[in-house]
Amino acid sequence: PTIYVITPTYARLVQKAELTRLSQTFLHVPQLHWILVEDAPHKTPLVRDFLAASGLTYTHLHMLTPKERKLQEGDPTWLKPRGAEQRNEGLRWLREMAAAAGGKGPTIESAVVYFADDDNTYSLQLFEEMRYTVKVSVWPVGLVGGMKFERPVVENGKVVRFHTGWRPSRPFPIDMAGFAVSLKLVLDNPEARFDGDAQIGFLESSFLQNMVTMEELEPKADMCNKVLVWHTRTEKPKMKREEALIKQGLGSDPNVEV
Ligand code: UGA
Ligand code: MN
Repeated sequence: PTIYVITPTYARLVQKAELTRLSQTFLHVPQLHWILVEDAPHKTPLVRDFLAASGLTYTHLHMLTPKERKLQEGDPTWLKPRGAEQRNEGLRWLREMAAAAGGKGPTIESAVVYFADDDNTYSLQLFEEMRYTVKVSVWPVGLVGGMKFERPVVENGKVVRFHTGWRPSRPFPIDMAGFAVSLKLVLDNPEARFDGDAQIGFLESSFLQNMVTMEELEPKADMCNKVLVWHTRTEKPKMKREEALIKQGLGSDPNVEV
C-alpha cells in the first residue's frame, strides 16, 4: 500500500535543514508519496527546487494560514493550532485525486494517510507499522506533552484509554504524529477536516472524532509498547553575530541558500 504523507511547512531559517532531514528519512521508505504543503501565499523557489532534487515522489501545494488564525510574534505557542489549513489542503488534493481516478486502483483502495510535521524524528519501522491500516492505527509518541511519552493504553488488543498528562477526557488525546488513517476512511468521510479554530489540544480530535471510535483504533508498535516517533523541536538559531556583521556591511552572502 502507498503511504501518503502530508507535511505542513513554513519559511524560517531552519526550514531547509528540517526538510533535508525529513526527506532523507522518506527516501528509505518504499511507496511513499509526499504531499508537502507550504504555509505561504505561493510556492517558493526554495521548496520547489528542493523537491525537484529530492528523489522522492511528491506533490507540492500551498495554502496560506489566514492572518487572524496565525500566531503572532510573542504569542504563546499554544494559542492557535499550526498546520491545520495545510493539512486540509493536502486532504482536498487526496480527495480530488481519488475522485479523478473513480475511487479505484491500488494506490487508492489500500492507501494510508499520515500527517508528519517537518520537525519530528521518524523511525523507518513506523512506516511499516502504519502501512496496513484498516481505519485508524495508533502508537506512542516520545517526548511530547511534557512527558517521556504519551500512548494509547492497550488491554486484550484494544485501546481502552490514553496515557497522557493533560485532559485525558479529550475525545482523542493523541499527538498528530501518533496516528495514521486509511485513505478509504478519509474518502468515506468527505466532511472530515482539521478545525483551525479548535481549542488547544483538540486539533487531532476535531479530525478524528466523527470518523472512528476508541474501540476501533488499531494499536501498532508492539501493542503501543515501542516509541518509533519523537516530537522533537528545533531550537531557533541565534543571529546576533550575523546582525552585527550586517551593520558593518559584512553579512553572509544573501545569494547562498541556507
Ligand atoms: C504540536 C503538534 O505536534 C502539531 O501537530 C500541532 O499542529 C501543533 O502542536 C499545534 O499546536 O497546532 P508543535 O511542535 O508545537 O506541534 O508545532 P510545529 O512543529 O511548530 O508546527 C506543526 C507543523 O505546522 C510543522 O510541520 C510546521 O512546519 C507547520 N507550521 C507551523 C506551519 O505550516 N505554519 C506555521 O506558521 C507554523
Ligand atoms: Mn513540532
